[in-house]
Amino acid sequence: MTADQSARPWLDPDRSTTERVELLLAQMTLAEKVGQTHQVANIHPDDDAAQLAGGRIGSSLFASGATGGNERDEGVLAANIDAAQRHAVEASRLGIPVLFGRDVIHGHRTVCPIPLGLAASFDVGLVEEVAAVAAAEAVVDGVAWTFAPMVDLSEEPRWGRVAESLGETPVLSGRLAAAMVKGFQGDDPSDPDHIAACAKHFAGYGLSAGGRDYDTVSVGENTLRNLHLRPFKAAVDAGVATIMAAFNDVDGTPMHAHRHLLRDVLKGEWGFDGVVVADWNGIGQLVHQGVAADLREAALLAIEAGVDLDMCSGSYAAHLAELVESGEVDEALVDGAVRRLLTLKFRLGLFDRPYVGEPIRSNAPTDASRATALRAAHAAHVLVSNNGILPLAPGAGTVHLTGPYAEAAEELFGTWTLDGRGEDVVAPATAFRARLGGEQLLVSDGRFSDRSVQQVRNADVTVAVVGEHPWRSGEANSVTDIGLPAGQLEHLRQLSRIGKPLVVVVYTGRPLELGDVLDLADAVLVVWHPGVEAGNALADIVFGDVAPHGRLPMTFPRTTGHIPTSTHQRPTGRLIELHEEGRQGRYLDDQVFPRLPFGYGLTYTSFEYGELRTVGGTELSGAGEVVVEIDVTNTGDRAGREVVQLSFRDPVAQVTRPLVELVDWAFLDLAPGEKGTASFTVRADQFAYFGTDNTTRVDAGEIVLVAGPDALHGSRLSLRVNP
Ligand code: NOJ
Repeated sequence: MTADQSARPWLDPDRSTTERVELLLAQMTLAEKVGQTHQVANIHPDDDAAQLAGGRIGSSLFASGATGGNERDEGVLAANIDAAQRHAVEASRLGIPVLFGRDVIHGHRTVCPIPLGLAASFDVGLVEEVAAVAAAEAVVDGVAWTFAPMVDLSEEPRWGRVAESLGETPVLSGRLAAAMVKGFQGDDPSDPDHIAACAKHFAGYGLSAGGRDYDTVSVGENTLRNLHLRPFKAAVDAGVATIMAAFNDVDGTPMHAHRHLLRDVLKGEWGFDGVVVADWNGIGQLVHQGVAADLREAALLAIEAGVDLDMCSGSYAAHLAELVESGEVDEALVDGAVRRLLTLKFRLGLFDRPYVGEPIRSNAPTDASRATALRAAHAAHVLVSNNGILPLAPGAGTVHLTGPYAEAAEELFGTWTLDGRGEDVVAPATAFRARLGGEQLLVSDGRFSDRSVQQVRNADVTVAVVGEHPWRSGEANSVTDIGLPAGQLEHLRQLSRIGKPLVVVVYTGRPLELGDVLDLADAVLVVWHPGVEAGNALADIVFGDVAPHGRLPMTFPRTTGHIPTSTHQRPTGRLIELHEEGRQGRYLDDQVFPRLPFGYGLTYTSFEYGELRTVGGTELSGAGEVVVEIDVTNTGDRAGREVVQLSFRDPVAQVTRPLVELVDWAFLDLAPGEKGTASFTVRADQFAYFGTDNTTRVDAGEIVLVAGPDALHGSRLSLRVNP
């Protein structure tokens, strides 16, 4: 043991984490404890030196370029973090390191598709790999903690934040959330290439009224438990280190004051032992939400509810000590929060290795990170219509690439990127040029539609890249109309009127109203925002080197007026099947079906499904398993991947259950003419739900399984459950 370790025994790495935490906690003054619960934004090594040395700052969000230079220049972020860290570790009484967090959402420097695009892959391994690549780049910049994955179930396309989500259904979102947690944190978050993850925003944020960001949420606990809490539970089960509270209220109680959901359910019932972090000024907003008179009362409500770390409201720093001293807050609550925060710092190895030091490597995209980004971008391409024009045949003639994103760079990152750089992006035009050369490619800026329309006549096929600018989705970017941005549909109409083949590529952060586009185009690809490899991925798909295999992770409604239209609609007295048309109470002026269902996506071949069958009976008894299978044949002349989806319906339960809910899926990669079998093992607990008393139950009775290419179509089979 070193001299320092005998003076400060919590520095001894041979002791257990619990022991180290308790040894340290026992030494801390109330002010030092409160310091640990205080997170500041953009820490400044000089301006914040005294606070750091006094142990008054526990964590920092982002970082500034205070040591000089541009934050985006290599090494600047890390040097700044180290300079601040030195004050905390070397000049403070107890030497507790600061926890540096930053939003690393879909790639750090190597930007990958937005989370909704990653979800379109349905690929757990790929999503884990993307998170692992991001973590390994982020540590170079001194980042120890990211605020991802976002696992708010998204069934409201007006809400801009669906771009950050992993889709609308609990099993997909939950499995991908767990994969991201694993990718960010590895087996051990103290491993030098890993960081702590944060599942956010707990809970119900995806139901914000009217799709307006930060708005109120009216939802009962039963719906929360049966749908919206499940991806969080999956993240907790995967060992997520932290959970962020949501800005919204749930049925009148803002989440930063929601003792029942945070303390009773998350920390109590689920046994979550990590850190609950506030969202940005989320504690302060309790005042605006009208449940606290001032910051002091807000701090009291939040610590009682179980918020451990105050992101940037300053309310804990200003009032917690005084609330304890006045007897209004039990110091044990503060101790509980600090215990969790210190445990995380030990878990991350921050006490043992507080500094980044000399950058271990550059974090610029490498061949390997680009290869991951390219595979992820391929998987984000969802082909939603094709009359056979795609893939473009070799010698298809002259291609006209047009639209506002033909030469785009950073715009193809999508929302929430702090560290990606425009110069790293391969634009669609660059990739098409590399493939076709100058002779066979015409590029026109779609913003000048006359020129663009003229060029249609000079080419054999037009590829129009349209859709949303990243600032039209993401936080605070909600819309009242999910149509294409102004002018784009008119432009596409002009392009199509000439009568030459038209391929439309839609970059977007949300489901859009695509009916007219589907009607006028020969093929439509929904690509989300794909990241640094945008152009290469598009060229690979359009020219057929790679067959599209992404699937829609959210339902595409017919119009804005159809929202919400997720798969989780529940039976009413007058609507008992998702497929039913003409039932009373539906809209008079339009069909009820979504325009494109959840799970939908085509590829360059076709598949024929057999009937769903069971291997070994239809009785699901106790903990037993049943294997169900379905044959799928590639009936086209190209190889292709089919994403076979298994959904279920529980026809009789204590509470209304979704008309259809995804329970599992399988990839089948089939050569032309090849027949494959998708096989699923099901257990009764996969059909468990929360009943009228909000406890989990499995009922005796029928479960209807549906296997098919999307949420609306498939072959059915009934199982009998005997729990
Ligand atoms: C507010 C956002 O709601 C949250 O998702 C994000 O992680 C924090 N700001 C920190 O940037």
